[in-house]
Amino acid sequence: MQKETFSFIILAAGKGTRMKSSNSKVLHKVAGEPIISLIINKILSIKKKILIDKIVVVLGRDSQDIKSFIEEIFKGIKIVIQHEQAGTADAVLSAKKIFRNYKNKIIILCGDTPLISSKLLLNLTTLGASFRLGLSGFKSLKPFGYGRIVLNSSKQVSSIIEEQNASASQKKIDLCNSGMYVSESKLLFSLLSKVKFNTKKREMYLTDIIYLANKDNIEIGITYNDEIDSLGVNNREGLAMAEKEMQNILRKKAMEKGVTLIAPETVFFSKDTKLARDVEIGPNVVFGPGVKIGEGVKIEAFCHLEGVTVKKHCTIGPFARLRPGTVLEESAKIGNFVEVKKSKINKGAKVNHLSYVGDSDIGEKVNIGAGVITCNYDGVNKNKTTIGKKSFIGSNVSLVAPIKVGSNALIGAGSVITKDIPNNMLAVERNKQVTIKKRNKK
Ligand code: UD1
Ligand code: CA
Repeated sequence: MQKETFSFIILAAGKGTRMKSSNSKVLHKVAGEPIISLIINKILSIKKKILIDKIVVVLGRDSQDIKSFIEEIFKGIKIVIQHEQAGTADAVLSAKKIFRNYKNKIIILCGDTPLISSKLLLNLTTLGASFRLGLSGFKSLKPFGYGRIVLNSSKQVSSIIEEQNASASQKKIDLCNSGMYVSESKLLFSLLSKVKFNTKKREMYLTDIIYLANKDNIEIGITYNDEIDSLGVNNREGLAMAEKEMQNILRKKAMEKGVTLIAPETVFFSKDTKLARDVEIGPNVVFGPGVKIGEGVKIEAFCHLEGVTVKKHCTIGPFARLRPGTVLEESAKIGNFVEVKKSKINKGAKVNHLSYVGDSDIGEKVNIGAGVITCNYDGVNKNKTTIGKKSFIGSNVSLVAPIKVGSNALIGAGSVITKDIPNNMLAVERNKQVTIKKRNKK
């Protein structure tokens, strides 16, 4: 079967006032990824099923931050500017010039729905095959805030009424508008040209196209979707709800892939966390963006990882913090109260207790004793520490970087090391102990 072609318009020019934020609403993150990026990636994920022509994002005049973000991450996304935030209908109209004489169908999405699923998107494309105009709806026990879909006596969609314009009986309708539509291009812009300013809000509602189409006897299709798929983030509470739902999705996915989560509800992933099978994760572990964990790795309770690659069979924690730029090679061990930043811990090396390792290359099978600190920062520059394989660094050693310790070297406990140590040497930097007779108390 020939794949159908669709274009997408994502509305993201709203002021997002309800977020009470200095940052744009659609750049707020869910599972570590900006909402707008989650939506664009979801569209791109159905590339195998449909042909995607244009993806247009409608932004406000002051949305340089969103524009820069999109241009940095994605290629070929068209940005159009809505000069005044005069409502969702006006936002779609700002993309009109791009779709002059356009023959394919257009799918309109809101920029504030981080949990949008490929199933929902595909349902809209299917709807578009049989209807000139269609929309997605969901039933909700808490419909407050959403536009309500009004059906006529023969259960056909006849209009959408916004919360603030709804009568008491309309507010009881539990069928909500997801804010996602599919339409023939020509029909869409002809309906939009008839939308009037809403007198109460001084806005043009996109939802009015439904009533206008119905008036012209155009049959409106509807696809029913899960409520969470179209959860719209309007405020911080909505953001927290979206995060909660997204985490549940990510936890379920991890377990389906063969990852053990001892207490799933306490583990937090990023959208891009990559986990191989037989990874075991204890309670209260947090994954920031950019983490990749290999097969059979065990992460004990209360660890925080971000920007880290962990090869197979490593063990981490409890209470470890692995920061960006860190690589743990196979079977490395990071123990409790250890912080590692931008360092490579080679195969079988151990940093088991109370250490800070930064800007370092720790050789194979090295043993880092309790309390070892790499002094990587001299107040101006970050300096490197290199330790050759099989060396043994005694407890409470300070390695003042830049410093090179050879392989098979030994450093006595408590030493402050400021000079390089060649292979196979023993270094101790410590005052001689004095043991003398105690003075007797009178
Ligand atoms: C909108 C729908 C509502 C639906 C809900 C689903 C309208 C009038 N209402 O309400 O029926 O249930 O979404 O989440 O459409 N935007 C612009 N320019 C503007 C105004 C908004 O681009 O001038 C963008 C926003 O950035 C946002 C989207 O359109 O991404 C929706 O706007 P928002 O203010 O969040 O609408 P809701 O009140 O949620
Ligand atoms: Ca919204």
